[in-house]
Amino acid sequence: MVFDRNENKEVAVLLGAGSMGTAIVRRIAAGKKILLGDISEKALERVSHEFTYGGYDVEMQVVDACDEQSIRAFAVKAASMGPVMYYIHTAGASPSQASPEHIIKLDLIGTAYAIDAFGEVMARGGAGLIVSSQTGYMPHALTTEDETALALTPTAELAALPCLDGSKTPTSGAAYIVSKRANHLRVQAAAAGAWAERGARINSISPGIIVTPLAYDEFNHPGNTYQNMIDRSAVRRVGTSDEIAAAGAFLLGPAAGFITGIDLLIDGGVIAAMRTGKYALGRR
Ligand SMILES: NC(=O)c1ccc[n+]([C@@H]2O[C@H](COP(=O)([O-])OP(=O)(O)OC[C@H]3O[C@@H](n4cnc5c(N)ncnc54)[C@H](O)[C@@H]3O)[C@@H](O)[C@H]2O)c1
Repeated sequence: MVFDRNENKEVAVLLGAGSMGTAIVRRIAAGKKILLGDISEKALERVSHEFTYGGYDVEMQVVDACDEQSIRAFAVKAASMGPVMYYIHTAGASPSQASPEHIIKLDLIGTAYAIDAFGEVMARGGAGLIVSSQTGYMPHALTTEDETALALTPTAELAALPCLDGSKTPTSGAAYIVSKRANHLRVQAAAAGAWAERGARINSISPGIIVTPLAYDEFNHPGNTYQNMIDRSAVRRVGTSDEIAAAGAFLLGPAAGFITGIDLLIDGGVIAAMRTGKYALGRR
C-alpha cells in the first residue's frame, strides 16, 4: 500500500516536539514532509509514531536546541529534504524546570541560533513561528539600549551582553522574562533582515497559561502564582494547545501573507489585567 505518491514535497520543520509544537504541525503539515527535532529521543519516537499513524510523512533527528552546531545540522537536514516552507520553534524550558543559565542558553540564545540557521534555508514564501511567552510582556529591567542590543547583537556575542549577566538575571523567573522578551526582538530583527532577504516571513506567538507537561511543572512548583493569574484574567481559565495551534496555523498560512515581524499575545487577558493593575506579578 502506497499512502502518498507525491515527490518533491515541501518541508515543515518542528524543533521541540512537545504539546504546542505538535498541535501546530498537525494543522499545517498534511501533504508535506515533516522533520521533527527534540533533545529527547523518547519524545521523538512517540510523536513520530503518532504522526505516522495519523497519515503524516515524518522524519526525525535528535537536536540539542542549546547547541549551535546541532541546530545548524538540523537546518542542513531540513534543506536536504526539499523546500523548507515552515519552521516552528517550541524547544524551551520554564522557570521551574531549569536554572537561569540554562534558560538563557536554551530559550534565548538557542532560539536566536535557530532563527539564524533557518534564516539561511527557508524557501521563498515560507514562514517561521517562534513560540515565546506572555512572560515577555511582564515588567523587566531592560533599558531601550539593552533591547536594541538583544535585537541586533550577533548571536555568538549575546552571552557577553551586560543585561544577561548573572547579577541581572539572578532567578530563573527573571531569566525567563528577559529570554521571552528577547524572542520578540530577535523575530522582529530577523523579519527585517535575513528572512526578508529570502522572501520568508517570521512571527512569534506569546501564549499565556496553556496546559501542557511544562505547565504542570509550573503548577506543581511551590510558590506558583498561576491560580491568581487565572482568577484575575478576563477569560478566567487556562488555554489549550489547540487554541495556540489555530493562531499558529493562521500566522504560518497564506491569510497572514502580509504579517511579519510581529508577536501575537494569546493569554486570556492576563497581560491586560497586569497593565491595568488588576493583577500584579507575585501576588498569590
Ligand atoms: N505551557 C505553557 O503554559 C507555556 C506558556 C508560555 C510559553 N510556553 C513556551 O512554549 C514552548 C513550548 O512549551 P510546551 O508547553 O509545548 O512544552 P513541552 O514541554 O510540551 O515541549 C517542549 C519541548 O522542548 C523539548 N526540549 C527541551 N529542551 C530541549 C533542547 N535543549 N533541545 C531540543 N528540545 C528541547 C522538550 O523535550 C519538549 O519536547 C516553550 O518555549 C515554553 O517556554 C509555554
